[in-house]
Amino acid sequence: MKTFLVTGGCGFIGSHLCEALLAGGHSVRVLDDLSSGKRENLPPGAGLIEGNVGDPATVREALAGVAGCFHLAAIASVERGVREWLATHLTNLGGTVTLFDAIAMVGTPIPVVYASSAAVYGEPAALPLAEDAEKRPLSAYGADKYGSELHAAVATHVHRIPTVGLRFFNVYGPRQDPHSPYSGVVSIFAERLARRLPVTIYGDGGQTRDFVFVADVVRALTAAMKRLPPGAPVFNVCTGVGVSVRELAERIGVVCGVAPEIRHGPARDGEIRHSVGDPEHGRRALGLGMPVPIGEGLARLLAASRLTA
Ligand SMILES: NC(=O)c1ccc[n+]([C@@H]2O[C@H](COP(=O)([O-])OP(=O)(O)OC[C@H]3O[C@@H](n4cnc5c(N)ncnc54)[C@H](O)[C@@H]3O)[C@@H](O)[C@H]2O)c1
Repeated sequence: MKTFLVTGGCGFIGSHLCEALLAGGHSVRVLDDLSSGKRENLPPGAGLIEGNVGDPATVREALAGVAGCFHLAAIASVERGVREWLATHLTNLGGTVTLFDAIAMVGTPIPVVYASSAAVYGEPAALPLAEDAEKRPLSAYGADKYGSELHAAVATHVHRIPTVGLRFFNVYGPRQDPHSPYSGVVSIFAERLARRLPVTIYGDGGQTRDFVFVADVVRALTAAMKRLPPGAPVFNVCTGVGVSVRELAERIGVVCGVAPEIRHGPARDGEIRHSVGDPEHGRRALGLGMPVPIGEGLARLLAASRLTA
C-alpha cells in the first residue's frame, strides 16, 4: 500500500482516479482549492488539503511522505484562458512548476504523472494525431499544457524526477458537471436529452472529436504511475475514433430513447474542425487494452447519472 497525492482530486477525472486508487488498497491525499471541484466528489477515505497548487508551502506539505503524485489540478477551460489569461496561467503552468520545484527541493525523486491535453496540437495538419505531430497550441490553455510538458522534461533531465505526461482528448463520464458553462458537450447533451430538452449544435455538427471514457483515462493514469517509462515521455489518451457532434447527439438520443430535437447556433470562432488522436504508442507503452466504445461509455454514463428513460 502506498500513499499518492492527487492534485485536483475533487474534480471530474480526479475523483474517479481517487476511487480507483482506494479500491487498489492505496491511501489518497488530495490537494484541491475547490474552485471547480466539489468536496462531495471525494470518495470516503481520501484526505483533503484545501489549498492552491500554486502555493509552494502548501504543495510541500501535501507532498510529505507520498510515493507519487498525479497532477490534475488545472483551470480546465479554454474559454477561461481567453478571459482570465494570467490567472489561468498561474494555475495551469505556475502550479505545475510549483509542484516540480517543491519535489526538487525535497530532494526525493517523487514521480509525477500529469494531465496534458490534445489542445497542445492546435489545428492538426494530418489525422490521426500522433504524439510527434507539430505542437501549435491556439489557446493559452493549450500553451500552458505544452509548457507543462517542457517543464516536465526539465524536471526529469535536470532534477531526476520521473515524469509521464498524458494528453487527454475529450473525456466524458459520470460526475462531469453539465451546469458549468465550460462543460464538455457530452455531459450537456446527456443531461438535456434525458430531460427531453432540445440541444444546440454550434455550426453544422460535422466537427469531430475523439471522446474517451473516464475509466480509460484512469487506467492510463494508474498504468503510467506503475510503469513510469523513462525519458519524460508524453502519450495520447484517446480512442482513435472520431465522432461528429451530430452523431453524438443521435447516439445519446438512442440511449435515452428519444429522437433529439437539434437547434443550430453560429459556428464558434476558431473552433478546430476535426480532432482524432492515435492511441497506439500510449497503449503499447502503458500496456493498455482496447478503450471503451462510445456506445457503451454513453450507456454507462447515463446509467450512472440515472439519466436513462
Ligand atoms: N475533461 C477533459 O476532457 C480534459 C481534456 C484534456 C485535459 N484535461 C485535464 O485533466 C485535468 C482534470 O480535468 P477535469 O476535467 O477533471 O477538470 P475539473 O475542473 O473537474 O478538475 C480540476 C480540479 O482542479 C482543481 N483546481 C483548479 N485550480 C486549482 C488550484 N489552483 N489549486 C488546486 N486545485 C485547483 C479544481 O477545483 C478541480 O477539482 C486538468 O488538468 C485538465 O486540464 C481534461
